[in-house]
Amino acid sequence: MAKVHVMDHPLIQHKLSYIRDKNTGTKEFRELIDEVAMLMAYEITRELPLEEIEVETPVATCRTKVISGKKLGLIPILRAGLGMVDGMLKLIPTAKVGHIGLYRDPDTLQPVEYYVKLPTDIAERDLIVIDPMLATGGSASAAIKALKERGGKNIKLMCLIAAPEGIARLDKDHPDVDIYVAAVDEHLNDHGYIVPGLGDAGDRLFGTK
Ligand code: PRP
Ligand code: URA
Repeated sequence: MAKVHVMDHPLIQHKLSYIRDKNTGTKEFRELIDEVAMLMAYEITRELPLEEIEVETPVATCRTKVISGKKLGLIPILRAGLGMVDGMLKLIPTAKVGHIGLYRDPDTLQPVEYYVKLPTDIAERDLIVIDPMLATGGSASAAIKALKERGGKNIKLMCLIAAPEGIARLDKDHPDVDIYVAAVDEHLNDHGYIVPGLGDAGDRLFGTK
């Protein structure tokens, strides 16, 4: 069963409130998404394994800890996932980035794949699929399926806002994938938008509406 981790850090919750606000313009929206993604990267990497090394301080030699050679891969779902990549890379600068292009058909709400470009060694990486919105779950499910078909094994999903319907879909299709979110909202409306949500993440991020 997929575990849902709600990141309730006050800074994440505070920034999310302004991201939701319809009066927040494109520039500020983009900056807030970037900041929140950095904070979420901090939380999602909490379990990374450590190993001990020896370091000489100006005073003495000590045993101390560093992250033990884990290879990470960030997989934004285009377009809106792109807005979270730079914030995450600020904390995980050596991660490789793969892209999965999907758009949701506005009538059927089914995801349509148009681009996949991944690091060649995804089978050996811990992968984090990134998308601000988990609505019906169709896009995230299709992206994770695309990764698994190409050898991806250790996969987490990171979203800003999830609808219960999307969580249920992920749990059904990919129970092995844990979900990390800043908020779980009430429901989807008749157009498949999350209520209350934040509107159309891609359009708000890129100013296309
Ligand atoms: C949005 C969002 C997710 C998807 C979520 O993308 O960024 O990818 O919808 O909906 P779902 O869970 O019902 O599949 P959209 O299709 O609007 O494409 P865009 O990011 O290119 O604007
Ligand atoms: N995609 C979005 O960008 N927003 C929603 O609320 C649902 C899908």
